[in-house]
Parts: sequence; structure tokens; C-alpha cells
Amino acid sequence: MMDGASEQSRRVEGALGHISVMEREVVRLVTAQAVEQGRPLRCVDLTLGLAGHARAVAEILPAGSQVIGFDRDPAALERAKARMSEPGIEGIQTLFIQASFAEAEECLRARGMVPVDFVLFDLGLNSTQLDAGERGFSLMSSGPLDMRMDPEGGGVTAGDLLNTLDAERLADIFWLLGEERYSRRIARALVKGRPWQSTLEVAEAISRAVGGRKGAKIHPATRCFQALRMAVNDELGAIRAGLPAAGRILRAGGVMAVISFHSLEHRLVKTFFRAGARRCLCPEEQPVCTCRFEPIFRWEQRREQRPTAEETADNPRSRSAAMRWARRTDAPWREDAFAQWESSGILDDWQRLEAWCVRRSQ
Ligand SMILES: C[S@@+](CC[C@H](N)C(=O)[O-])C[C@H]1O[C@@H](n2cnc3c(N)ncnc32)[C@H](O)[C@@H]1O
Repeated sequence: MMDGASEQSRRVEGALGHISVMEREVVRLVTAQAVEQGRPLRCVDLTLGLAGHARAVAEILPAGSQVIGFDRDPAALERAKARMSEPGIEGIQTLFIQASFAEAEECLRARGMVPVDFVLFDLGLNSTQLDAGERGFSLMSSGPLDMRMDPEGGGVTAGDLLNTLDAERLADIFWLLGEERYSRRIARALVKGRPWQSTLEVAEAISRAVGGRKGAKIHPATRCFQALRMAVNDELGAIRAGLPAAGRILRAGGVMAVISFHSLEHRLVKTFFRAGARRCLCPEEQPVCTCRFEPIFRWEQRREQRPTAEETADNPRSRSAAMRWARRTDAPWREDAFAQWESSGILDDWQRLEAWCVRRSQ
């Protein structure tokens, strides 16, 4: 059963265009943290979006706590600020920063706001970005081939990639970031049909290239659009920098929670926490441990949490979500714990491909 307050909050969120995923689970984590610490907390929402989670967290925090929100998208940040200035959280200090979570550590250290008690990542896009045709993320409504989360920040657009990369690199993007099995066929068709100007044209061309895929649950262009969006915004690069940075700013006992939405993200989050929770960094074949490594994270609940059936019925976009969280121990931070993770297959492949794509499309 949903209580009156959360029902009302969902209606408000629905009207704003984005329903927060696994909000109850996030609030539960912060509540436990507040009870345990028995003092005001400093919480950082690294993907503020429309402030659904941030607002719900602020409502249960003790007076004197701080909620700091980051988002790359200036439009999202403006909406979030408005939401956080509504009555009901007067005792909470708020701060909004337009930056990538990859830069959060620098931004917070520069303001003397480290360490923190709770860090949240809710990866991907908010629904208003996805639904606004003019942002170029939607394959259902016509828009320019943009897809930048920060449209004022420069950088390559989806159109730059689609109209300049050769078929091999485009296929690499679709395969690596979208796990699209027809990546080569689609890339050849897209190179042949240039120039591309609108999202709908590209979505239709991809459908034609794969022959419509009868009975498919998702639009045939979904994976390619996800891949293009991830490439344009260097989303894997941000995760590679952002997860360790979040770990470095947490105080001992602090909690880091990550909500991810597709298999690439799920894998990266899982392997990140697993790397930090190991007891030893020595090579497997070494008989005696010499690394003196102590686990950096306590991964108390190793199985990911998934949205309830009630939530997925209410908000179909939550279907693929998974939340993983871990607690920072008091062991010293060690970069070498994550060296293998940072150079693991997908992150490394993407780093090489990204450098190439950005050079070619500028
Ligand atoms: C799924 S939404 C978050 C929704 C939010 N939790 C809420 O309840 O309203 C993800 C948000 O993260 C932002 N984002 C994605 N990657 C980012 C990054 N590297 N740094 C900062 N913000 C990012 C997007 O612009 C988007 O607004």
C-alpha cells in the first residue's frame, strides 16, 4: 500500500514529467543513516534530475543537514531548484552545481564540503529529457540530432557522429554501448543514407535496416539511440571517473547507492563494488598475502535491489532498474584497488574508441 504522502508526491512528480525510481528504498537508506549517526547529515545527489530523490531525502533529514545536487543539464537544474525551494524543508541547506559527477570531488573539496555521509547516483536521463523532441533523445518525436545533456557546453552531437564517422566506428559504438547485434548492418545503412538531420529519419532508417523485427518488445532503434546518447555524453567515461571519486569523498560509515538501468551499467557498478570489497589484491597464484589491503567498501547487501511489482506497474520506466549500495569502511582509500576495474574490457575499449570518435567528428 502506498501512503497518502507518497501517493501525493508521485502525482506531483507525474505532473513534472519524471517519477523517481526506487525512491522508497533510497529514503530508507538515508533514514537508517540518520538514525545511526544521530546528527545532521551531508547528502549528495550526483544526478539531481528533477530532484525527486533529493526532495524526498530532504524531507526526512534532521534540521541542519545539507543536500547538494549535481546535474550536467542546466534545464534540469533549474526545475530541481524550483522544487527544492517549495515549503517543507526549511531547516535543510541546499546547494546546486551544474557539473558532471566526474568533477564532483573537485567541486566539493573546493567548497570545503568533504567528507559526506550519503551519495546517490541515479544514472541515465530523466523523463523530460527523453520526451522532449527538441533535445534529440526521443525516437518517437522528430527533433535535431543533438543528445547532449548540456547543450550549452559544446562537444559533439549525435548528428556529428552519424554524419562523419565511418561505418566501422559507428558499428563499434552500436555494438559496444548498445549491445546491438545488427550493428554492422545498421551502420552501413546509415553511412549510405547521409546526411541525417532528424531523430525520426534515423529511427526509421534503423527500423528498415533490421527489417522491423516482428514481435520485438522495444523499438528497433532503441539500442542504437542509447549507444549514441552514451557516446555523445561520454557516459562510460563519467562512470569510470565518478564512482571512485564518490568513494573518495565518503566518510567512514558513509553510504554510496547507485541505481542503474541497463546491462552495461549494472555490470560496471557490480564490479566496482566487488573490487572495493575485496580482502586482498595479491595475484591469485601468490600463496601468502603481502598487499596489506583492507576492504574499502562493506557490501552488506550483495544482491541488487529491484523495484517492487507495484512500482513497475505504476512506472514502467523503472522496470530495468537495479539499486546497489555499499558502506565505506575506515580503511585508507587505495587507487590500486580499482586499477583492474578501470582498465577492464568495456571501459578500456570505450576510452580508445571515444578518443578516435571525438577527433574524427570535430
Ligand atoms: C534518471 S535522472 C535522475 C532523476 C532524479 N533522481 C529524480 O528523482 O528526479 C538522471 C539525471 O542525471 C543527469 N546526469 C546524467 N549523467 C550525468 C553526469 N555525468 N553528471 C551529472 N549529471 C548527470 C541527467 O541530466 C539527468 O537529469
